[in-house]
Order: sequence, then structure tokens, then C-alpha cells
Amino acid sequence: MFAKLRPAVSAVTTAVRGKTATQNINLRRISSTAAARSDAIFVHRDTPENNPSIPFEFDAKNKEEANKILAKYPPQYKKAAMIPLLHLAQKQHGWTSISVMNYVAKFLEVPPMRVYEVATFYTMFNRNPVGKYLLQVCTTTPCELCGSSKIVEAVEKHLGIKVGETTPDKLFTLVEVECAGACVNAPVISVNDDYVEDLTPEATVKMLDDLKAGKHVTCGPVSGRNNCEPFGGPTTLTTPPPGPGFMVRDDL
Ligand code: FES
Repeated sequence: MFAKLRPAVSAVTTAVRGKTATQNINLRRISSTAAARSDAIFVHRDTPENNPSIPFEFDAKNKEEANKILAKYPPQYKKAAMIPLLHLAQKQHGWTSISVMNYVAKFLEVPPMRVYEVATFYTMFNRNPVGKYLLQVCTTTPCELCGSSKIVEAVEKHLGIKVGETTPDKLFTLVEVECAGACVNAPVISVNDDYVEDLTPEATVKMLDDLKAGKHVTCGPVSGRNNCEPFGGPTTLTTPPPGPGFMVRDDL
């Protein structure tokens, strides 16, 4: 659209250049909407699998849990429980459909728009169905420097999907995310709620095969190092910590 408008803009600009400087000509800047970069659009459109007529409510266990969450807040501020309740509902339903949002709004006695505003702001709420395993690959600078592009490439190639897509068997959904907060163990993928770290393309493919085969995948660094210790073992705090009274005056 911008390209089509360009000749018109030039014509106006040429015409303007011909006028005297004192003429007051109002020109409106032409701008275009930024391209959508996130994995899901923020507009809801009713579809057969996502429309308000599909019923949703907490099961008995989650109703109990929701009431426990609610009890943490003063009754007049129950809307403060919106994010934990949305997380709970997403966990039960698998994703945050329009019915999930409407139900949470009803539960909190707030207009549905209040819930839509929150659920569309935080990308952790999946407003479209996702696969059994939601693979979130971090591609922010520290992970990128440690090769996260190669990890994305390995997943895409092995599963035959692109970022933002789900495999036809509904097993995997691949998304790219900003810093997952585990930079020291980069590159990192989160598989649902668990982090798999220090990944290489080969380790990524193995992890995908294990998940496909229904095997348990151990979270944490696949490199074998302990948590986020240096690869060559600890280099600081290598002696036992001093006991109570260390460096304290004798008479104290
Ligand atoms: S940059 Fe990837 S976890 Fe921080």
C-alpha cells in the first residue's frame, strides 16, 4: 500500500516545492502500521474452535485453587488475581481461548474487556491452540551469541515447521521468545514449564526425539555441568565457608 501511495506523495511534494514559503499547506504524514512481529495477532476472530459459545469453567480442583488465590487479595481488589487465574485456566484448558477469558472475567466480576487487555498484553497467554509441547526458543543476544539461530534451524528442520507453527500431530508448537532469564546457560529452550539449557543442534534433535517417544526429558544443562557453574568446575568459593564468629572481635 505504501508503494502505491509513493507517486502521489512525490506529486504533492513537487507541488509544495513550487509554492512560496509563506503559504500554509497542511500535509499529513503517511505512515503504515508496523508489521506484526509476534507469534499471534492481537485481534480475536471467532472460529469453530475459539468462540464464546464453547463452554469453559474451572474443574472442582481448580475452583478450589482459584478460591485460594482469590483469598490472598482484599475483596474489593479481587481483579488483582487476574493473572494467576488466567494461568490456572490456561493450564486446565491448554490455551487461553475467548471462553477462558470470559469465564475469568465472570469469576472476578469485571467486564470481559479488562481480561482481554491483560491476556493480549502478555505473550505467555497463548490465545491460539498450541501443541502438547510448547517449545519457546530464546533468541535474545546472549543466546544468539551462543548459537540460538542454529537451534531454531535444527527444530524447524527436524519437525518440518516454522516459528509460530504447530506440527500436524499437534505435538509441538515452536515460538521464539525474548530473554528467558537463563542467559548463563545459553542457548535455552523452554519446553512447557521446564528449561533445557546449554543446547547444541544435536542435543536439540535428541530432545525432540525423546519427547516424541514419550521419554522423560531432564531439565537443566545438557552439557553435564552442574547448574550454572563454570564448565571447568568451580573457580571461586572453593574452600568450606568460615563458621559463625569469623572476623568478629573475640570479646563479642
Ligand atoms: S538471552 Fe536467552 S536466556 Fe537470556
